[in-house]
Amino acid sequence: MSKPQDRHAGLCAPLSLGGKTAPNRFVFAAHQTNFATHNRFTERHVAYYETRAAGGAGTIVLEGSVVHPSDWPYEYAIFGYETAWWTVIAKSQMRCIATVCWRWRT
Ligand SMILES: Cc1cc2nc3c(=O)[nH]c(=O)nc-3n(C[C@H](O)[C@H](O)[C@H](O)COP(=O)(O)O)c2cc1C
Repeated sequence: MSKPQDRHAGLCAPLSLGGKTAPNRFVFAAHQTNFATHNRFTERHVAYYETRAAGGAGTIVLEGSVVHPSDWPYEYAIFGYETAWWTVIAKSQMRCIATVCWRWRT
């Protein structure tokens, strides 16, 4: 019988996803954090996701963003639909999260 570390060696193998390659197959699944302020990402999100990347998650799925004003499923939902000024801010906040995670190859 093979050793557990041999049976699970595939978990540590890189994984191609679209045009990117995750360093391993550990996925940090999407979930609501309740960290939003005024329904936007915050520095707390940045630190939270970076910590998961530092811990070895190969892929991180951010929490959901709502895409239409008729949808406000919970108080701290991220509003992904808002007007251009917010979209620019949202993109820069998401870029900030991505940048800190890329430091860890996530
Ligand atoms: C946008 C999005 C938000 C999610 N939010 C939560 C959440 O707040 N809490 C939760 O337990 N699962 C949430 N999920 C589901 C988890 O990411 C995960 O799929 C679920 O816990 C099942 O995990 P498993 O597939 O490993 O069994 C969310 C999924 C998506 C796509």
